[in-house]
Amino acid sequence: MNNLQDSIAVITGAGRGLGAALAISLADAGCKVVLCGRNEAALAHVAATIETRTGQLPITVQVDLADSASVTRATQTISQRFPTVDLLINNGAMWLEQNEQGYSPEDVHGVINAAVTGTFLFTQGLLPSLRRSQRPDIVTIGSISALPNAALQSVSVPFYAAKHAQRALAEGLRQQLAGTPIRSLCVHPPYLDDISPTEPAWEAAAQRRKGERGTNRDVVEAVLFAVTRPRHVSLSSIVIDSDDGGLFG
Ligand SMILES: NC(=O)c1ccc[n+]([C@@H]2O[C@H](COP(=O)([O-])OP(=O)(O)OC[C@H]3O[C@@H](n4cnc5c(N)ncnc54)[C@H](OP(=O)(O)O)[C@@H]3O)[C@@H](O)[C@H]2O)c1
Repeated sequence: MNNLQDSIAVITGAGRGLGAALAISLADAGCKVVLCGRNEAALAHVAATIETRTGQLPITVQVDLADSASVTRATQTISQRFPTVDLLINNGAMWLEQNEQGYSPEDVHGVINAAVTGTFLFTQGLLPSLRRSQRPDIVTIGSISALPNAALQSVSVPFYAAKHAQRALAEGLRQQLAGTPIRSLCVHPPYLDDISPTEPAWEAAAQRRKGERGTNRDVVEAVLFAVTRPRHVSLSSIVIDSDDGGLFG
């Protein structure tokens, strides 16, 4: 197993939910984390939590993935501060639930631009820094909605399409980066209970029974497992199914 100690890990959507859980867990595992997202106050709160747990205050970088100029500024800021990046976690994506009335152009642009254009440009901007790493990984958080023939269920069509595109981005990067040290991995969570490593629910989640919902912890553990594999193997796609919330029933 490879050690994550002192790895530089950049996480998008790190201010809440799964992104915050990933950031806290990666910091606990010894990474120097870079917290990226739109909401500076939320990022600062996660940074303070990490400082309390590890003694290291992470830097925060404001980015709106739906805004290309913001993405360019953010990747330039990160590259100047950290010429080498070991791990990029493309977690940030705008959720859009299905509704009967349809969607505003702003919502459709927001979903597609953040998940697809933003994820691609953010990754492209950090590729030179990833290429300098001895252990570079790109992890894209997809969804079981992203899988071929996934049922639509309560998901809006724009979100469904954006998640399918994110799976294609991860696969395209995997092919483009074949023959280089960079691995491109895609992790597909089911519907999740939003729990944090700071809560007792995190410990309790390890005792869940078959049929219960997945949690952020299940995704965090899958990511940690994937990125600590020896470099000759690549867990290119990890699908996390759960009986309640899975789209396979
Ligand atoms: N929760 C689930 O059940 C589930 C299931 C499958 C897949 N996923 C995926 O897991 C990832 C995290 O989901 P989540 O449930 O923790 O979060 P969420 O509640 O859906 O919020 C999305 C995250 O992405 C960020 N984000 C949204 N639009 C953004 C933008 N334009 N620029 C930068 N950041 C943006 C949000 O940050 P702000 O604070 O800036 O809004 C937030 O951190 C997403 O990719 C999601 O699709 C989640």
